[in-house]
Amino acid sequence: MITERELRKGLKTKMFGKKIYAFQTIDSTNNCAKAVANLGGPEGIVVIAEEQTAGRGRLGRQWLANPNENLTFSLVLRPNVPPEAINQLPLFVGVALAEAIEKTTAIHAECKWPNDILLNRKKVAGILVEGSMQQNLVEYVVVGIGINVNQTSFPQELASKATSLRLECRREIDRATLFRDILTALEALYQQCIKRGFSIMLPLWMQRSSMMNKPIAVSQQGTVITGIVKGLSKEGGLILHSNGIDRTLFAGDVTILGEVNERFVGSTTVAQPSASLPRA
Ligand code: BTN
Repeated sequence: MITERELRKGLKTKMFGKKIYAFQTIDSTNNCAKAVANLGGPEGIVVIAEEQTAGRGRLGRQWLANPNENLTFSLVLRPNVPPEAINQLPLFVGVALAEAIEKTTAIHAECKWPNDILLNRKKVAGILVEGSMQQNLVEYVVVGIGINVNQTSFPQELASKATSLRLECRREIDRATLFRDILTALEALYQQCIKRGFSIMLPLWMQRSSMMNKPIAVSQQGTVITGIVKGLSKEGGLILHSNGIDRTLFAGDVTILGEVNERFVGSTTVAQPSASLPRA
């Protein structure tokens, strides 16, 4: 197990990771981080575990990761923003993850709407943002991050669409160093967003997306909407030109149409619309 001490060795952040709760096994780091936040835990607390018995992705899907090979952790944030802004948060997290993964692997990391990071068109990381509101303000946000780091095999149903840093760059990755790089990138971008607004991440995220002007299908709870991607709204929604009009979507599973490579059919889970934020 990576200890708190190893994780913090050389960490130069001011806030993020000042307190790290490290576990061998836990139900879900997001659950624990929420419990800590509910007790008044300050911004920047991290909960990390080698193994999650109930790790989850968006829409209540399972997040499966081999113990001791990956990174699964959650970060508590307390941004002073209205609930609508919650859909913007995955943007800065996605850009920070992409930057840190790229630094480690020297492979271009792509952001896939809503919350995935891809390497060579396969998913290496997912983000789960969960928040709590009080009097129409965000009380806290827990950012859950799962990264496939040194895992070299995946269940058959995921094998064509999931990968790991190790599989893509053909060497074992030092997880503690990667963790520190991620926290450093997250803190730097978060501070910029707090000063200038989270929508400043839109162009950085867009530069890392290959969906622009492509035909896609978005499936939302049984219905499928097809259209051409026009960009992201400042709230973090996907702007889709469909049947002659521009529609902004805040949730869905995206498939890029006409990709010969079926690997692009994502296992992506969907972003929580702000209206359904669970209350503490
Ligand atoms: C997704 O791709 O659907 C998001 C996956 C998020 C998984 C992480 S692992 C750490 C944290 N704890 C959880 O239970 N989930 C998130």
